[in-house]
Amino acid sequence: MEQRRINGFTVNPIGLGCMGLSAFYGPPTEQAEAIKLLHTAIERGINHFDTAEMYGMGANEKLLGEAFADRRDKVRIATKFGPKFLFDESGKPTGTTIDGTPENMRRAVENSLAYLQTDVIDLYYLHRVDPKVPIEETVGAMGELVREGKVRALGLSEASPETIRRAHATHPISAVQSEYSIFSRDIEDGVLPALDEIGATLVAYSPLGRGLLTGALTRDNKPGGEGEYRQAAMQPRFADGAYEANLALVEEVGAVAANHDAAPGQVALAWVLGRGENIVAIPGTTKLRNLDSNLGAADIALTADEVARLEALADRVQGERYNETGMAAVNR
Ligand code: ATR
Repeated sequence: MEQRRINGFTVNPIGLGCMGLSAFYGPPTEQAEAIKLLHTAIERGINHFDTAEMYGMGANEKLLGEAFADRRDKVRIATKFGPKFLFDESGKPTGTTIDGTPENMRRAVENSLAYLQTDVIDLYYLHRVDPKVPIEETVGAMGELVREGKVRALGLSEASPETIRRAHATHPISAVQSEYSIFSRDIEDGVLPALDEIGATLVAYSPLGRGLLTGALTRDNKPGGEGEYRQAAMQPRFADGAYEANLALVEEVGAVAANHDAAPGQVALAWVLGRGENIVAIPGTTKLRNLDSNLGAADIALTADEVARLEALADRVQGERYNETGMAAVNR
């Protein structure tokens, strides 16, 4: 598939969401295995790698730093700041808060540059909008990082159309990252038109519905073990009842996939990429066979009837995409 643009640079339309290698999807992948996956991803043509300060409290950035130190010119690295870990007096983590102050940004960016073993971050996002800090103040400070040469381009994650416009008036916004998939289409009314307006790229995260849309999850193979955030308390779509109902919808995706001799996850990715030239996807995977399957999505062209069939599913999905705390952090 043709490369797509994130303002100043081109990327493969399918990048790699690296979070799951270090956090939220069970125990971290063993370091050597993770580095092998990252190196093989480059060989397969992936050049857009997405991480964040909060993924494993720096562990994910450190992993990418190790993996890319001797091949920095082959990759575009995107990372994020905003969520800040809180600790008690003994140094034990007690939770997170969102901190969009310039001071927190300075602290975070210096850590990220060091962990990533690089002089410049290709794309630097505000991970979640801080309602306590005017977006102009946060993005104004981020713009200074661009002028200082520490960052190449700016992005926002889970931002509202109004925030996107205000931010862009302060400093050009190159990308907005939002959850976007056959199951999560709520950005279509406001965010996507705002991106068209300002000429920015959508970076679609969780394009596989956190695994639901791949067909690999079943009633008997329900995630939710140790270190897994796909549990009812955090992810309502995985709650008892909702999970089974949502799996039934995936059968529809499977039926479309059968037309193409493809996997449901490939159809899910093809749908996202088919929604616009200014969209790229960052499916997350820890496994080479899944990475290869995901890359295969670029060859699938869905018919108008198939697209219509897939687009009827979102309204039938059961459960919000995050719990109440997670939804409260989404800027709407
Ligand atoms: P996130 O943005 O949180 O990474 P996602 O990209 O929608 O969410 O989905 C990630 C999940 O899909 C992971 O559990 C990943 O599991 P592996 O690490 O075992 O691959 C799973 N996944 C990704 N690609 C897959 C594929 N081709 N087949 C089956 N599962 C896949």
